[in-house]
Amino acid sequence: MEIKKVGVVGCGIMGSGIAQVSAQSGYEVVISEINEELLNKGLASINSVLTRSVDKGRLSQEDKDATLARIKGTTNTKDFSDCDLVIEAVIENMDLKKRVFAELDKVCPKHAILATNTSCLSVIDMAKATNRPEKVLGMHFFNPVPVMRLLELVKTLLTSDETMEMARKFGESIGKTVAVSPDIPAFVIDQLANPFILDAIRMVERGIATAEDIDTSARLGLNHPMGPLALADLVGLDTILLIANALYDELKDPKFAPPTLLKKMVAAGWLGRKTGKGFYEY
Ligand code: CAA
Repeated sequence: MEIKKVGVVGCGIMGSGIAQVSAQSGYEVVISEINEELLNKGLASINSVLTRSVDKGRLSQEDKDATLARIKGTTNTKDFSDCDLVIEAVIENMDLKKRVFAELDKVCPKHAILATNTSCLSVIDMAKATNRPEKVLGMHFFNPVPVMRLLELVKTLLTSDETMEMARKFGESIGKTVAVSPDIPAFVIDQLANPFILDAIRMVERGIATAEDIDTSARLGLNHPMGPLALADLVGLDTILLIANALYDELKDPKFAPPTLLKKMVAAGWLGRKTGKGFYEY
């Protein structure tokens, strides 16, 4: 089986990035949202990222137009009926994700692979909402999708080797390097990265150092592209909290316990870049 047409469920930051890189790599793409307003917002963000690339001379106007022509927006799940791969990138809610997978299972061709972009939820639980668990895996992309080179593939106990191989080929065809993680809470990357971010938040909470000093130290002393608190603002503090809770609930290791400051910031609606305020103001 060859992947020709890719479906993406959810046109937020991650979904639009996945649709963009897939279309830029020559795939026909269908991307869905729950209403026209959110769909148009997501499609406009793809347009503006591509326009920026044209302005910077990295992409020709022709290639931009061809990329956009390959992306079809929809609010109807039935439009996934001829997709070979569908990647779900809706909000991190297990009930919603299970419903999405059950519906995709009904609509998509028998051969189609179904993937989730979840950062921390159990992939096997989504797989079991379908009648094709051997064709279900995690495809964990990183924000900003067009820039980040890694694609973390998550293999459940039921994902077949053939599905993993197809997913690997797809990942490489869109310019990503692939690493495999088992279906553990938050997978390999976020089990590693989340405690680092939580430690930085604890340092601010305890008055040990300012957010600016912590981030400057990580950027210049560790050569990270951005410090842990700026990264938390980029990812979204609600997502950081969700990942911490998923890790702590399962593993009970205090290094994953979310600091009070993080919980209070999320309760206050200070979620980082998307709300204009987190550890920094935007
Ligand atoms: N979409 C497309 N391209 C983007 C972009 C976006 N949203 N944001 C930045 N870029 C591009 C810019 O166009 C620019 O390209 P050129 O240099 O060719 O012009 C390049 O990225 C660098 O951007 P900037 O000069 O604006 O800023 P920067 O040098 O500070 O880089 C950054 C910004 C790419 C975000 C960089 O700071 C970085 O890599 N940060 C780390 C990001 C990271 O770790 N992400 C993973 C988060 S974890 C996750 O997503 C998964 C999870 O499970 C939570």
